[in-house]
Amino acid sequence: MTTKSQALLNWIDARFPLTSTYKAHLSEYYAPKNFNFWYFFGSLALLVLVIQIVTGIFLVMHYKPDTSLNSSGVSLAFASVEYIMREVPGGWLIRYLHSTGASAFFIVVYLHMFRAMIYGSYRKPRELLWIFGCLLFLVLMAEAFMGYLLPWGQMSFWGAQVIINLFSAIPIIGEDLSTVIRGDFVIGDATLNRFFALHVIAVPLVLLGLVVAHIIALHEVGSNNPDGVEIKKKKDANGIPLDGIPFHPYYTVKDIVGVGVFLFFFSAVVFFAPEFFGFFLEFNNFIPSDPLKTPPHIAPVWYFTPFYSILRAVTYPLFGLDAKFWGVVAMGAAVVILFFLPWLDRSPAKSIRYRGPIFKIALAIFVISFFILGYLGVLPATPGRTVVAQICSVLYFAFFLLMPWYSKIDKCKPEPERVTFK
Ligand code: HEM
Repeated sequence: MTTKSQALLNWIDARFPLTSTYKAHLSEYYAPKNFNFWYFFGSLALLVLVIQIVTGIFLVMHYKPDTSLNSSGVSLAFASVEYIMREVPGGWLIRYLHSTGASAFFIVVYLHMFRAMIYGSYRKPRELLWIFGCLLFLVLMAEAFMGYLLPWGQMSFWGAQVIINLFSAIPIIGEDLSTVIRGDFVIGDATLNRFFALHVIAVPLVLLGLVVAHIIALHEVGSNNPDGVEIKKKKDANGIPLDGIPFHPYYTVKDIVGVGVFLFFFSAVVFFAPEFFGFFLEFNNFIPSDPLKTPPHIAPVWYFTPFYSILRAVTYPLFGLDAKFWGVVAMGAAVVILFFLPWLDRSPAKSIRYRGPIFKIALAIFVISFFILGYLGVLPATPGRTVVAQICSVLYFAFFLLMPWYSKIDKCKPEPERVTFK
């Protein structure tokens, strides 16, 4: 560094903790040296978050949250999205980056959560880090749901209709609550305007705040790793973990590999299959919304379908409350139960590498059930499919509820003292 740039840095450091923050979070943040590809998904989630914010800003420059009809009888909201696609230079690219980004976000976050599950990254001392993650997942679902209303197509309208109506199943306050959410007695301009405000500013702010809390919590306790061994337990004379390497440059460089691979697949979808066979953008959503024409089959976007299946699987009324109410409870419980994972797991080993066969089988059954639920959620319900969804819902909950028991009796292998690295 030249004396002048050093002097500038000293000037800044005397007023703002630039060098110390850089050291604490990058050049002197010691991460375990045995990270594998599963550790790409955190930085990829950050990347997708940036893509969504940047493309979102450009979409807002041309989008109109207005349900009034133009001279062709199409809402201004729907027409403004078409305008972005056909008239705005590069508008199609910005829109497809944003719509593909939404699905990519969930793919990356689901893999990120799965990594935490296989390596026990939610266990002590990372419970709060996990809870911030679960909150991020909840808020991300809200963000995606509200964003989907904005194009004001058939699926935007009818999807919102189905989901908002669910709230009316809650006893006593349900009807009023769904009116408050809609801002009207029916889904209309007021609903679109409030969803727009929430999608564009309120929820992203919460999301950003939670991401900061998530990373601060991570850097407080340190990263877990594929062996589930705490590297802070073995330090050298300078207090540096023996199995740690500085995050920068080692993992900043390694993460670029993940980014490269990710962008390869991401661009392939954006340029060659942006609708992704109706999974990322549903075909019915290219039709302007019509409150008088209900589509024969209303299905949410793929990332909601496992939870939607759990909702539909509940078909029995109980304690005088109808099945719809219990469906909502089951769907909510399927997300809320994630928060309790750190306290449900009693295994002596953290990582799947040293856990016994019962956990591996339970996890495999859980993942298969989750996929089946997701698949059933895109299909119309039939009596046969409902039975399968019921079985898979029971298996989903059994994974969590039986965990205190099976994680305790499972025969684990001894964990190593230090991380294994070849
Ligand atoms: C916007 C969404 C999210 C972002 C941007 C994000 C970001 C990150 C980053 C950058 C890391 C460190 C790198 C890594 O370990 O991969 C991380 C770690 C972690 N995240 Fe997230 N995350 C998000 C959502 C979630 C969710 C939904 C969960 C779980 C419900 C979660 C749980 C964790 C855990 C347990 C760790 C520590 C992993 C370990 O040390 O082994 N995160 N996150």
